Amino acid sequence: MDAYPRSIAEGQGQERGNMPPSVSKLLAPFRRLRRSLTRVTGGGRLRQDIERFGTWTYPFDLGNGVTTPLHTDWMAESHETRNKMTFARLDEIYAGRWADIRCLDVACNEGFFGMEVCRRGAKEVVGFDARDVNVEKADFIKQHLGYDGISFHQADVGELTPDRFGVFDLTLCLGLLYHLENPMDTLRRVRAVTTDICVIDTQVLRVSAPVTTAWITEDRLIETEDVIGIIEEPDAIWNPAASVTGLSMVMNHSALLKMLQHAGFKEIERVEPFEGCFQPYATSDRVVLLARV
Ligand SMILES: C[S@@+](CC[C@H](N)C(=O)[O-])C[C@H]1O[C@@H](n2cnc3c(N)ncnc32)[C@H](O)[C@@H]1O
Repeated sequence: MDAYPRSIAEGQGQERGNMPPSVSKLLAPFRRLRRSLTRVTGGGRLRQDIERFGTWTYPFDLGNGVTTPLHTDWMAESHETRNKMTFARLDEIYAGRWADIRCLDVACNEGFFGMEVCRRGAKEVVGFDARDVNVEKADFIKQHLGYDGISFHQADVGELTPDRFGVFDLTLCLGLLYHLENPMDTLRRVRAVTTDICVIDTQVLRVSAPVTTAWITEDRLIETEDVIGIIEEPDAIWNPAASVTGLSMVMNHSALLKMLQHAGFKEIERVEPFEGCFQPYATSDRVVLLARV
């Protein structure tokens, strides 16, 4: 086990008293977890096992009326949208071929998306995450639901190379890029282990107006549409779904495309949001892209 709390509730205990009011306000959504489900009903022994882990990122249905309780209520709607958008195209592209596909779930958290690939009959799925606490939960669900074709590991994406886990037809880079100090390094690393498609799901900046700088002299004004913003994540110390360093670089859509091209992805396809999807996707604050090598 690492030093992170098992639940966001515990993390809030750590943070209380240390944070300035502005930061405290930022954390308000997570405080709502106190009103969210924290008890599991039914299931006897299974219920005890689940409760020992605290709250969860995904609502895993474990049978016998037992579902893992979420950190915050909105997560269920978010994952439903993300699941639909991620697999809408993949299910077309890999129809009848899932059994040939090796998949890497980068920063897998509790392993939900890798398990979705596994459920489709993929040849092998590997998931890794920086936090032991997430990997331990993923392993628990894997054992309980009997997913043999998937393995989970603790690793930082900054250490990812083809030697570590091999190369993969499909890589999932979901919910990660906007939690990183060096997203370009990650894109290059992910590209190096992808042989067919990488799915990117990420937050993007709203900025689209060009920004400028005078390059050495005033007459050499450079304009760019590609913008990166810096976002601090003070909850990194206790939130098991956050950055591990507390500092994140978030791109606008144009910068994201440019970085994907420089990482060596050739064709980028955007998965269109659907009617009634989770709000950030409808407003394009968040996008799902398929990047082909
Ligand atoms: C928002 S969650 C997304 C989880 C999952 N991929 C999904 O889309 O549902 C971000 C995850 O990235 C992990 N993470 C953050 N920085 C990481 C790093 N440098 N290396 C590996 N995992 C990291 C966190 O522990 C967390 O599980």
